[in-house]
Amino acid sequence: MGDEIMVWQDLCVHRGTRLSLGHVGGGQLHCGYHGWTYSSSGECVRIPAHPEQRPPPKARVKAYHAKVGYGLIWASLGDPAAGLPPFPEWDDPSYRKISCGPFAYNAGAPRAVENFLDVGHFPFVHEGLLGDPGHAQIEDYDVESTPDGILATGVRVWQPDPDGSGVGRYVNYIYGVRRPFTAYFSKSSDGETYMIQLNVTPVDELRCIAWMTIGMNYGFDVPEDELRAFQEKIVGQDIPVVESQRPERLPLDLQAELHLRSDRIAVAYRKWIKQAGLSFGTS
Ligand SMILES: [Fe+2]
Repeated sequence: MGDEIMVWQDLCVHRGTRLSLGHVGGGQLHCGYHGWTYSSSGECVRIPAHPEQRPPPKARVKAYHAKVGYGLIWASLGDPAAGLPPFPEWDDPSYRKISCGPFAYNAGAPRAVENFLDVGHFPFVHEGLLGDPGHAQIEDYDVESTPDGILATGVRVWQPDPDGSGVGRYVNYIYGVRRPFTAYFSKSSDGETYMIQLNVTPVDELRCIAWMTIGMNYGFDVPEDELRAFQEKIVGQDIPVVESQRPERLPLDLQAELHLRSDRIAVAYRKWIKQAGLSFGTS
């Protein structure tokens, strides 16, 4: 899955200019300042001011493995341990897809993902949209954890406006985690399914950028801007809450915070990333 593309560090080693101001041609990257030309593997192959001179070996930029998939560019800083995460609805024509974001968080990626997996906050953070304080109780649901990911099923909540259409109803959620920073939910009622796949790019341990893709198998006549605006509103309510969380690094020691039965997906997430050996953005 995904077409390979070339991605280079955005800094010319000559005078430190942004290489993104230059251009790519013939599979090579040309700096816009002095025309230094880099190969796909990042070595400088031509210095136009001295065409007869062989560029020194130190003249090279970092090149990264990258792929295009699901309307996004996926770059790996090292050797990728796995391919792109699955996203079955992307290739299913019965679903329309709407890309949302990027959403910048002054918070670590693990905190942003855990917030995405949390339904207990709906009545309070998303009152009138995804929840109602009069229906705050959360029934038990099942969580299954395997090395490939986490799956929570039977998460049932009442929502006043589950998808921005303004019609309240009980919805059944499925939540899944496919990579430490890739998660999804899917909610259905009466054969209508609305899902979002979340991909989070860590900027550093305490900042991240979230990309969300909505998939829905109904409402093809609802304008894309309206659906996107709804999601922007939801995320706009989440961001200040997530940014306020302390400690900023998600505690993987389960004794460090209090957990309820309704938090079992969050508990599974913390255990799963700990087992996967992830320490970035955690404590
Ligand atoms: Fe939220």
